[in-house]
Amino acid sequence: MNCDRGIWPRLTALLGSALTFNVALAPLCTFGVGGRARAMACLETEVQAAEVRRLAAAEGLPVLILGGGSNLFFVDDFQGLILKLGSGFKKIQRLEGDRVQVGSAVASSVLLKAALGWSLSGLEGLAGIPGSVGGALMMNAGSGGSSIGETVESLDCLDAQGCRLSFKARDLVFSYRHLAGLPAGSLISSARLKLKEAEREQIKSDLFCRFQARRFSQPKGVKSAGCVFKNPAGDSAGRLIDLCGLKGSRVGGCEVSQIHANFIINRGGASGRDIVELIRHVIQVVYERYGLLLEPEVKIIGPGGEVTIDDI
Ligand code: EPU
Repeated sequence: MNCDRGIWPRLTALLGSALTFNVALAPLCTFGVGGRARAMACLETEVQAAEVRRLAAAEGLPVLILGGGSNLFFVDDFQGLILKLGSGFKKIQRLEGDRVQVGSAVASSVLLKAALGWSLSGLEGLAGIPGSVGGALMMNAGSGGSSIGETVESLDCLDAQGCRLSFKARDLVFSYRHLAGLPAGSLISSARLKLKEAEREQIKSDLFCRFQARRFSQPKGVKSAGCVFKNPAGDSAGRLIDLCGLKGSRVGGCEVSQIHANFIINRGGASGRDIVELIRHVIQVVYERYGLLLEPEVKIIGPGGEVTIDDI
């Protein structure tokens, strides 16, 4: 990496005050952990995003595209550039034929509310799931058997070099908490979703039931990243962790939630390394008891980008 030779002056010239240095990471993720990032850029337009990506790729500068920060945590520092998507990625528009065009920086809750206002159904699986539309698409977020991928008609993206690409649903494979078909490092700019007209009261009552179910089964008002592990086929990670008696297990400032065992909560003062150690402990105990290797659903961000639990 030769990024000290000149990328920072060029990024500063391009972004002005939208580029900040030595940025605290804890406020950027819902777990509330992490050290500092070398820099963060708030990108207002796709053209700007393309240029920043081009420069970063040419200099080998690690880049992290940050949505709502609700499904990742930082182990410590991040030695690259964080990209936050601004107003140019926050448009939402109803199109003809029950379609919606939505920018990737729109909060999932805002999309859900707009769809309800238009009496459009299909996104109810996002009820209560925090984060942005971009993050929801990348993770194929959902619950109760339905996920956002089922509604996708097309995606507009920028690849790691800043080239604009469009993908139709037939180019993409959405599976459980996973999207395949995009080049590595793609930044989703916007999505076209095909929804279905329905009775507004029906959508409302479906959403109400889903919110209620979450209210009583999941921790609220605490720092966490939702479910930490993917569910193994045909079972629930939370159920297995609970059966292992791990609720309340602690490392440093973090704890396996007493309410839902697939949540780890930051009780205050947790570090990214505490979370890594607790994840490792849970994986080991569940493996010893059930022979099942739980796979983290949350993304773990090391100094140079995403890492696996075995890399740390
Ligand atoms: N269970 C326990 N103990 C626990 C937690 C769950 O015994 O501590 C049991 C429950 O009683 C139930 C079963 O396990 O019989 C399944 O639990 P739940 O309904 O809570 O569903 P889940 O499989 O644990 C999934 C999603 C959640 C989503 C809920 C509700 C994953 C990894 N998790 O959880 O999504 O909110 O269904 O639809 O797919 C997330 O993605 O961050 C998330 C929280």
